[in-house]
Amino acid sequence: MGRLAILGALHEEIADLLAAMDPGAAVHRIAMRDFHVGTLWGTPCVIALSRIGKVAAAATASIVIREFGVSRVIFTGLAGGLHADVEVGDVVVAHTLMQHDMDARPLFGQHEIPLLGRVRFEADAGLSKLLQDSAADFVRDRGVADGAPRVQPRVHAGLIATGDVFVSRAEEAQALRERLPDALCVEMEGAAMAQICYEFGIPFAVMRVISDRADHAAKADFTAFLENVARVYTAGILAPLLKS
Ligand code: ADE
Repeated sequence: MGRLAILGALHEEIADLLAAMDPGAAVHRIAMRDFHVGTLWGTPCVIALSRIGKVAAAATASIVIREFGVSRVIFTGLAGGLHADVEVGDVVVAHTLMQHDMDARPLFGQHEIPLLGRVRFEADAGLSKLLQDSAADFVRDRGVADGAPRVQPRVHAGLIATGDVFVSRAEEAQALRERLPDALCVEMEGAAMAQICYEFGIPFAVMRVISDRADHAAKADFTAFLENVARVYTAGILAPLLKS
């Protein structure tokens, strides 16, 4: 099936995956990033830390596609919940992604990627369904996430909004909700990686665990979640999928 790329923006989001790689993985350093090439639960893969933001995600996606010939890319990490139904501890798998901070009006439509003629990028349906199913099993078995207000975390599939902004003011989050009523969550890399995969014709998927509600408490919630929960979710959801 070819090699799978797994990318995350922060070390904690991929730490358990790196630790679980089968012995003998090679590390290639390109453009100030380490690309770990080997097998993970038997699947050939390259795992890399993109760092935060759209430029970093786009650069890392380009490298895994061009240098390591990957056939699929998964981006994993945390996101701020936007939609009323999306709470801390829930998982969001992207159906589509868009760049909420792209605005070249009046030259192009709002959110349109100039000269590409697209606003939204569609994730690979098959890969996304596998992630959704595995996430559903994971949250069912795990029960209440640490610090999560709801008894049973949920798995959602839909629109993810990406921008070079950490949303930490309620007014900012509300403005996004009004502009993009179907957006489930907000993060800082997914749609940039999606644009690169689209341009190269490589299937991709994005999975996000909700760490905060993109409001005044976002910084504290995000930090606590990153330290305590992020790594458990990523490895717990990907392991059954890669082993099968
Ligand atoms: N990733 C996790 N929480 C986020 C937020 N509130 N804004 C942007 N990206 C995030």
